Amino acid sequence: MDVVISPTPVSAASQAGAKVAEAIANNPRLVLGVATGSSPLGIYEYVRREIEENGLDVSGITCFALDEYVGLPEDHPESYHRVVAATVTGPWGLKPEQVHVPAGNTGDPRQAALDYDQAIKDAGGVDLQIVGIGGNGHIGFNEPGSSLGSRTRVKTLHPRTREDNARFFDGDMNAVPIHCVTQGIGTILDAGSVVMIASGEAKADAISKMVEGAVSSNCPASALQLHPHVLVYIDDAAAADLQHRDYYDFAVANADKLPGA
Ligand code: GLP
Repeated sequence: MDVVISPTPVSAASQAGAKVAEAIANNPRLVLGVATGSSPLGIYEYVRREIEENGLDVSGITCFALDEYVGLPEDHPESYHRVVAATVTGPWGLKPEQVHVPAGNTGDPRQAALDYDQAIKDAGGVDLQIVGIGGNGHIGFNEPGSSLGSRTRVKTLHPRTREDNARFFDGDMNAVPIHCVTQGIGTILDAGSVVMIASGEAKADAISKMVEGAVSSNCPASALQLHPHVLVYIDDAAAADLQHRDYYDFAVANADKLPGA
């Protein structure tokens, strides 16, 4: 796990965005895992500019979202179908068929989850997965207690997540759906590489547990310690609780001294 700490959320997003843009440039048929939430928005904006200003070609990529609420119509403004369309598909000029989001508004969300996991496999697997982190350490909607080997499935949202996300539902926690379909932790760990983006003091505790705590379902993101290629882009505030921050900074500062770098 490489931890790259930037002074501001904007610089963290630019560094992460450059990494994602580079991955697309290196593989025009990249299968990209996209996340919702406010954290990855700077990455999406960075890539949009690369497309518009530098001609980055995204016509051959495929995107898979991490999760979706159960029971929200796809045209509900807070459904992740709509959010991904508004933040990725539209701004990047992708065709709708290039972008997949789990079906949360069906009569059988459990089957939809199985189908989604299979669709990712059929696409050859995710090459690069973008993830944010919840204040309670969730990735996707894998709440504390999630099995570290879990596949895409239905989960019940934690009350803290429903409280956190109430801001998107006019502050009404009861308007936030109770269930979701989310890629499992095992599904996320299958990705070729993972880019984590987080900022702000509200994420500092989750980030320290993810990077330096025990691998435990108590902090689902800590499972990323088991993945060989994880890049963590955070700002100073999100790094506040890290014990080995000086070491991470030293590693970044000396990265170009490695022969072949
Ligand atoms: C939601 C999403 C997660 C996201 C989290 C954090 O719960 N399911 O994928 O990481 O929110 O959101 P934010 O980046 O807005 O803090």
